[in-house]
Amino acid sequence: MSSERPTTTPRTASYEADPEQVHRVLLLYSGGLDTSVMLKWIQDEYDAEVVCLTVNLGQPGEDYEVIKGKAIQLGALESHVVDARVQFASEYLAPAIKANALYGGGYPLFTALGRPLIAKLAVEYARRYGCDTVAHGCTGKGNDQVRIEATVATLAPELRTIAPVRSWEMGREEEIAYAREHGIPVKGGTEAAPYSIDDNLWGRSSEGRWIEELEHPPEDDVFQLVTRPEAAPDEPELVELTFERGVPVALNGERLELVELIEAAAEIGARHGVGIIDQIEDRIVGLKVRDIYEAPAAALILPAHQELERLVCTIHQNQFKPLLDRQWAFLVYAGLWWEPLRSDLDAYMDEVNERVTGSIGLKLFKGAARVVTRASPNAIYDASLASFSQSGGLFSQAASPGFIELWSLQSRMAWRLRNE
Ligand code: ARG
Repeated sequence: MSSERPTTTPRTASYEADPEQVHRVLLLYSGGLDTSVMLKWIQDEYDAEVVCLTVNLGQPGEDYEVIKGKAIQLGALESHVVDARVQFASEYLAPAIKANALYGGGYPLFTALGRPLIAKLAVEYARRYGCDTVAHGCTGKGNDQVRIEATVATLAPELRTIAPVRSWEMGREEEIAYAREHGIPVKGGTEAAPYSIDDNLWGRSSEGRWIEELEHPPEDDVFQLVTRPEAAPDEPELVELTFERGVPVALNGERLELVELIEAAAEIGARHGVGIIDQIEDRIVGLKVRDIYEAPAAALILPAHQELERLVCTIHQNQFKPLLDRQWAFLVYAGLWWEPLRSDLDAYMDEVNERVTGSIGLKLFKGAARVVTRASPNAIYDASLASFSQSGGLFSQAASPGFIELWSLQSRMAWRLRNE
């Protein structure tokens, strides 16, 4: 493959690297096939040095020492692993919880929240190790390229990016052949292409294979995190989540750091088959794509948070905030984490969440998580006012007819005009 010029398409954007200027590359390295082939390919095609960076956002079952060793074995100048779980939880997931962040009705945005942090760390490491270029393994059809390149271009205008998977003309077969030829270990061999997986603390996505056939219901083997609801325990389980200022701080009365709390919630939710989402998504690059998500922690924490928020907010706040929540989720989905509107919205989210303190109990059973108890010192709730068993007190039932007369006045006039 070693032609004298890299097999790259001409530059379209100002932040794309000109092959002549690529000398040392910071590669976002996962240890998988694409980025392993990329690690060799960049050295060969660009005659450049490669520094690898692997970011731990809580993806289960990774052996980071093995990934590190593989990078060095494949010729990386350096290989670094950063454990960014605490930062991910406090700076990305906590704001997402405060914003009840879901895209398209169901996707809790775990990948979308992780990419700006991964790309920010890429910028830090690229600067620290004197790299001129950042390389990533995203394809040209997804949202992740947007999130990563937008972040690098925003935070580090001096850096350039390359996305080899977008420009090289290798399919999976050719990548495997390239790997064999260059002594890159390929796990799992050459049988059918696996699902395309991405995961972190907040959830896991699967794409590809039969998922692309809309009439095809999920096959059991796609669920690697959440127990299938039909195989979940026959007994329900109650879980209590306690929040302070909009952030979960305790599970079943035990105080935990956010990372540990999310892991514990994921474990319980997964056991009960909670958090499976089968969704057609409107990608920002125009495609509609089906994803299967498993997000057991989000499936407990988000509904509990939202319930508590509704309890402590007025009807007006409750009418308004979902509009901003949706905008927040869209910006994050769409790769605009660094957009000032997002921090403007966060200011509002923080303000509302000042009062979101209390506990919510959920009952988990065969794929469902249902709110069953609520408690908050800030609840705008007075049992004696709401009660059917009492009259009088602060709430005057005698005032209700007058209220109804004025409340319905314009609607009644409009009705009459239209029906005369
Ligand atoms: N569709 C989701 C998103 O756009 C998940 C993407 C998963 N990424 C991946 N490289 N497999 O955020």
